[in-house]
Amino acid sequence: MSRVKSVREEALAAIAVAPGQDELEQLRVRYLGRKGTLTQILRGLGEVPAAERPALGALANRAREDVERAIAARRQDLADLAEEGRLAAEAVDISLPGAPWPVGQRHIVNQVRLEIEEFFLHLGFSIAEGPEVELDYFNFEALNIPRGHPAREAQDTLFVTGDLVLRTHTSPVQIRAMRARAPELPLRVICPGRVYRRDTPDASHLPAFHQVEVLAVDRGITFGDLRGTLELFARHLFGAEARVRFRPSYFPFTEPSTEVDVTCVCGGGGCPTCGGSGWLEILGAGMVHPRVLEHGGYDPGEASGYALGVGIERTAMLRHGIDDIRLFLQNDVRFLRQFGGEA
Ligand code: PHE
Repeated sequence: MSRVKSVREEALAAIAVAPGQDELEQLRVRYLGRKGTLTQILRGLGEVPAAERPALGALANRAREDVERAIAARRQDLADLAEEGRLAAEAVDISLPGAPWPVGQRHIVNQVRLEIEEFFLHLGFSIAEGPEVELDYFNFEALNIPRGHPAREAQDTLFVTGDLVLRTHTSPVQIRAMRARAPELPLRVICPGRVYRRDTPDASHLPAFHQVEVLAVDRGITFGDLRGTLELFARHLFGAEARVRFRPSYFPFTEPSTEVDVTCVCGGGGCPTCGGSGWLEILGAGMVHPRVLEHGGYDPGEASGYALGVGIERTAMLRHGIDDIRLFLQNDVRFLRQFGGEA
């Protein structure tokens, strides 16, 4: 009897701390297997005196049941523990902030281009395009830029061949657009695009930059139309308080010609961006020269028009107080990200 009790105690104690399923199986074999301790005891009952047999048998059977139950319980516990461990290892902390996923944005030059386009599209203009490698004829000749004009010299223009150039402005698209539409009226187009000049890069020059050309041709277009359009345009780009001022200027393809200033971002009080004057020069414009209308296929006796050309980088610089045009090409995200809010 005491042997059964001590075997039972020993077995239950070992089972309770069995570290794994394999060890538990070894314990089962040791106590309940064919040659297991309790099995042997039960088998040996026949040799026990008949008077003691029932009591010993009952005790041994209970011990076997207890050990079986303990093994089953421990097996379940170990399985539960393993499952818990697995779940803990797989756990995802859904309260952690996610990894940042950087989202790109439009380059500031494209943002400003789109703003300019949007303004003129709303006024009924459409977008025209022309080649960046342009015929001398469209870039100069048809725009009334005479032979001998400094813009036609090799120190200012990038020539591809004798009569092919990298366009030095978007104005050649004026001629192409007129030719595509003449003699139909009205014609209202804008041409955004890249232009090239033979300049050494510095804070205010790049050999390639962007312009938007604007051209309106119709019966009875006057300088007043140009002025009104530019007043609205300036407010669109520089805010409701912005005003424009016109200074006489000269372009071979417009007559009269003007350079247009807009009130500085400082509000007109004077700051480093405007050099204290309160005004920023933003574009060149004028009434389309009669000879240019003729090259475009229009009769200057019937049609008149205005044209303007605005630099995109320059507009962005003036608006945001950027003091070096080269920043647009360096693609330093610390610079570019400052203009993230607009598109
Ligand atoms: N093409 C001129 C330039 O590049 C700008 C301009 C366009 C001026 C249209 C008048 C009219 O400087």
